[in-house]
Parts: sequence; C-alpha cells; structure tokens
Amino acid sequence: MSAVTAAHPALAAVDFAGLGLRNRLAVAPMTRVSATADGLVTDDMAAYYQAFALGGFGLVVTEGTYTDTAFSQGYFGQPGIVSAAQAAAWQPVTAQVHAAGARIVSQLMHAGALTQGNRFRDRTAGPSAIQPLGEQLSNYGGSGPWPVPVELSPPDITGVIEGFAASAARAREAGFDGVEIHAANGYLLDQFLTPRTNTRTDRYGGGIEQRVRLTGEVVAAVREATGTGFTVGVRFSQAKVNDHTHRWPDDPREAAVVFTAAAHAGADYLHIAGNGRDWFTDATLGAKGPTLSSLAHGVTGLPVIANGGLHHADTARRVLDERHAQLLAIGTAALANPDLPRRLTEGTALTPFDPALLQPRATLENARRVLAG
Ligand SMILES: Cc1cc2nc3c(=O)[nH]c(=O)nc-3n(C[C@H](O)[C@H](O)[C@H](O)COP(=O)(O)O)c2cc1C
Repeated sequence: MSAVTAAHPALAAVDFAGLGLRNRLAVAPMTRVSATADGLVTDDMAAYYQAFALGGFGLVVTEGTYTDTAFSQGYFGQPGIVSAAQAAAWQPVTAQVHAAGARIVSQLMHAGALTQGNRFRDRTAGPSAIQPLGEQLSNYGGSGPWPVPVELSPPDITGVIEGFAASAARAREAGFDGVEIHAANGYLLDQFLTPRTNTRTDRYGGGIEQRVRLTGEVVAAVREATGTGFTVGVRFSQAKVNDHTHRWPDDPREAAVVFTAAAHAGADYLHIAGNGRDWFTDATLGAKGPTLSSLAHGVTGLPVIANGGLHHADTARRVLDERHAQLLAIGTAALANPDLPRRLTEGTALTPFDPALLQPRATLENARRVLAG
C-alpha cells in the first residue's frame, strides 16, 4: 500500500458475518486452474492458500469451484467440490489456513454460458440460447468466440440449485467456515440477472424480481443444506469477464431488489466485486449515485466486502472510514504480496503485480518465491 501507517483501519479485528477475523483484509477469489484433471486440489495449492494466511490475511476466499457434474465447470484445471474425493482434497487447505490463523470460505461457481473447459459436457448452457459477448479467456486456455449455449430446462435449473446446495454441505464437511455464491462477473447467476443474456418467459425471466429468483433459490437451498453456524455470502458485480464496461441501471431500486432478495433468502454477507481500477468510479451507481456496497449495506443491514484496487492504502482507508464496506478483498496485489497485511503493519512497500505471476499458477514454488521476495 502507498502511504501506510500503523493505525490503518484495515488492521483492526472484526466479527464479520459470524467469522471472527483478525483484520479486515480478505484474499479475493482468484481462479488459478491448478487442480488435477479430475478437479482435485493439490498439495501445492494448499501451500499457495496457506501463504496468504501466513502473510496475515484475516480471510481467504477460494477460487471459483464448480458445483455439479452437468454444466457448471468453467475451465480445465478448475477445482470442484462435487464428490467426496474432491471435498477431501480441500481438507488440507482448510486445515493449513486455519493453522496459520485465518478463516476460509469456498467460492461456489457455475460458469454457465461462459464455460470454456468442462470435462462432463461438450455443450455449454445458460438462461437463454444467446451467444456471449467477447471472446474466451486466453489466461484459462480458451480462444475464439463463445459457443451459443443451450437454454437450461426447468429440471436443469433444479439440478443447478441442488448442485450448489450439495457442494455447500460438502464444503462444511471439508472444514470451510462458509461459502460464497458467485453471482458476479458474468457467470451463470449473473447471466440470469442480466436482460441481454436472460430472455426467458418463465418464472426466471422478465423483471428484476424474476431475474434474481434463481440466485435467491440457490441461497435459500444452500442455507438449508448447511444449517446455522456456517457463513453464506453472495458476490455481485457490475462488470463481467467478457464485458468490462457493463453497468447496472442508474436507478438504485434494481440493485436494492437484488441485494434484498439475497438477504431475504438467508445470506450473511454481500461481496461487491470491482474492476481493479479506481474503486470509487467502479463502485458508484450511475454518475452520482451511492456506492453499490453502501447501498447493499443500507438496504439489507448485512456486512459487505468491497473489492477492486483496494491495495491503495488511502482508498482503502476511505472505504472503511466512510463505511462503504466492512471488509476489503484484495486480488492481484495479494498475488504479488501474500504478506500484504504484514507489510501494511510494518510499513513496507508493496511489490507491484506482474502478470507473469499468473504463470506458474498456484504452486508452492510461486508462494515461496513471493513470500521470500
Ligand atoms: C487471476 C484472476 C482470477 C480471478 N478469478 C476469480 C474467481 O474465480 N472468482 C471471482 O469472483 N473473481 C475472480 N477474479 C476477480 C478478483 O476476485 C477481483 O475481483 C479482481 O482481481 C479485482 O480486484 P483487485 O483490483 O484487488 O485485483 C479473478 C481475478 C484474477 C486476477
């Protein structure tokens, strides 16, 4: 962080959504496509995750993890949590992160129409048979335009909900402190939220109340499958991985419907993802509206994670002091500085993020090199 001081509010302990955290710094979810072909987490990945806990982060949110053996897997090398074997492979990760003093939440993700590597199916599926904008992500081994997805049938949708719920129950068994449902960045639940990709005429399409229905049903099913004493969060964003300029309507009423639906369904926290450019520009609704995170907190009363460029100490301080959010999730700067909280405490400058860090991926070597450096 630039301009660091010992009294930075991000270093204060907080009881966030039932998670007692030693500070307000979380690792943002980051796909690393480093699992085995069977979607099993490796020892190197456990070391990679533990490095963030050793570096002082209060909370680790895992990379997006697939939730069923139908259409959810987005990338080859993505870890899953769809079987006892996959859940067991996560156990060393949760144990090692806990041993180093942090809490850990599993991000549950269904890629929907933005799938570019799924070993279970050779077709993609989404709310409607509409080709996604943009091109597949080369970082994760994709190229060229996205295929046109098949429209999910009502039984397929039931399967999606059951996949999230069963995966959340497995995550609890594997030692996670909670799950975060990925409804951001253009993936399946966000495809349902977005009028361009959801032209359904059944109960899951139409106005915002219908388009948010699937997210609400997923949250409710996850809540029921995991019971009390387990944290359930939901991540939303304006931008999408295949459309960085996408913005929600300026009128805050739509956003309020979305946040309220997640809260009523049983969410314990909301997470608003940004782009990583200027946080206040990214996070503000319309030209002069409230920030999405303060709106989310205001209409639901739930604690909120803010994200996007928050490794800048002065911006991070403002976000917390002005109560735009209660927790900060750090992405690329955490990759470059798994010990970012320690550096903030000691007043040490951050190592700039170098995209070369994405190769090698989530390896022990990489974690060691960065922690040593
Ligand atoms: C390599 C990489 C992988 C990512 N994978 C995910 C993911 O699996 N799930 C998710 O919600 N966001 C994902 N993101 C987005 C980040 O969580 C975060 O929103 C973004 O990096 C902006 O935050 P930053 O400015 O702190 O980096 C990813 C970002 C990067 C750089």
